[in-house]
Amino acid sequence: MTDISQPERAKKRVFSGIQPTGVFTLGNYLGAIRNWGPLQDEYDCIYSIVDMHALTVKRDPVKFRQQTIESYALLLSCGIDPKKSIVFIQSHNPSHAQLNWILACATQFGELTRMTQFKDKAKKHPDDINTGLFTYPVLMAADILVYNADLVPIGKDQKQHLELARNIAVRFNQRFGDTFVIPDGYFGAAGASIKSLQDPTKKMSKSDDNPNACVYILDDKDTILRKFKRAVTDSDSEIRFAEGKDGINNLMTIYSCVTGKDFSAIESEFSGCGYGEFKLAVGEAVSDYLEPVRSEFKRLMGDKAYLKECYTDGAQRAFRISNKIVTKASRKVGFVDYR
Ligand code: TRP
Repeated sequence: MTDISQPERAKKRVFSGIQPTGVFTLGNYLGAIRNWGPLQDEYDCIYSIVDMHALTVKRDPVKFRQQTIESYALLLSCGIDPKKSIVFIQSHNPSHAQLNWILACATQFGELTRMTQFKDKAKKHPDDINTGLFTYPVLMAADILVYNADLVPIGKDQKQHLELARNIAVRFNQRFGDTFVIPDGYFGAAGASIKSLQDPTKKMSKSDDNPNACVYILDDKDTILRKFKRAVTDSDSEIRFAEGKDGINNLMTIYSCVTGKDFSAIESEFSGCGYGEFKLAVGEAVSDYLEPVRSEFKRLMGDKAYLKECYTDGAQRAFRISNKIVTKASRKVGFVDYR
């Protein structure tokens, strides 16, 4: 029997996780999740709603549960196919927590203190610097290594965490013999870094205090049009991609992503037009583009039984892969075999 946990498998394995912390933004979608669907044909993909990571910040349990289910439904609405890929909720597969411990014992305190996201988050939540927040990157390493993933689609903000995962894997392999695949980052199409509509020098983020800064992929048409109408631009009046025109550059990037047109096509389409007209066109294009996501989400949320079937099946399939790797790592470190 061939061991699918090993790198000789026919297709490369992809793993990525997303936190269930609310509706994905247009930035999450265009920058990341949109690329996950097409990967399914080329790779064996495993996608997870990482609820255990989200627990590092205090949450209301009722809302948290609801958000986790919604995020799962959203992934499917964004084109992740639970038949093609393994799509599951992290806490449903105990392997993550198991490998987390083994890896924690192979990670240095000093390494974790260097994580910039920890420093930022600790500053943001000074009243709850829990140890989960501190060891979060170890759990992320476990998420990836527990499937021996080859490729990990991530945003730039997760590079440092992936680098740590690689270091942990290399060190473990050196100490105990070949166990883990060393994962590589997978960075989607360039130029898909979407900025805030209110401050186009900053990344579009759901934690932005200004509600007009960020478009959510479930926003209705009126809301989308309103947010684009209020988008910050510049005092120039020409629609062209240029330095110093961050607002217009961002709108052009968004328009290009949703229509497939390149910048010069967009410049000629809107030559002589005012910013108002352009913003309206971008809003309309975004709304049309997101329409199928909105309607699929609505349909799925009306069928909770189907969702449950999908995530239960996903967790079982995930476990079948990860449990072999946990067993292997357990043997390597010297845990007693009991099977
Ligand atoms: N830390 C990632 C984020 O906040 C989410 C995540 C958790 C992840 N585990 C992962 C991403 C494993 C890629 C692979 O965006």
